[in-house]
Amino acid sequence: MSTSSSTAAERDFKRDFLKIFFVAFGVLLICFSIFSVNHHENNKYIIETLELNGSAEEGDALFKINCVGCHGITARGLVGPDLHSITQRLNDKEIIKQVTGGLTPPMPSFEIDPVNMSNLLKYLHSLE
Ligand code: HEC
Repeated sequence: MSTSSSTAAERDFKRDFLKIFFVAFGVLLICFSIFSVNHHENNKYIIETLELNGSAEEGDALFKINCVGCHGITARGLVGPDLHSITQRLNDKEIIKQVTGGLTPPMPSFEIDPVNMSNLLKYLHSLE
């Protein structure tokens, strides 16, 4: 009697275990596909931006609208740091991530299309 009830419990346990295993596997698979799609889109954005040859003047105008509040009218720094010679410390990919990523509050993440992002990069390269 006790043997058969323990076998039933074992069977239940196995079934539950399989259920949990498949649910966990499914969740993992979904997370992974979301991550890889995001990653792919990020890369596409960066590649597209880096292929463009931006305009420093356009970038300057963009900077004056979006960035001077924190980085100062001449990018010499205010709340945010001085951005002169930033391109010697960070590569273009890192700057794109800094501007679009929102990884360092209070600096917000900016949604900038590749053309304007490449203009901004050109402007930042023009700062000594
Ligand atoms: C609300 C304020 C704010 C705005 C607006 C802002 N930033 Fe920033 N930014 C910061 C702060 C603060 C940091 C420093 C973050 C840290 O290192 O923790 C920073 C860091 C940076 C860095 C990296 C500097 C370094 O030394 O590593 C770059 C590049 C940058 N900002 C570019 C921009 C550009 C381009 C814009 C406009 C599109 C912009 N920021 C708008 C506040 C701001």
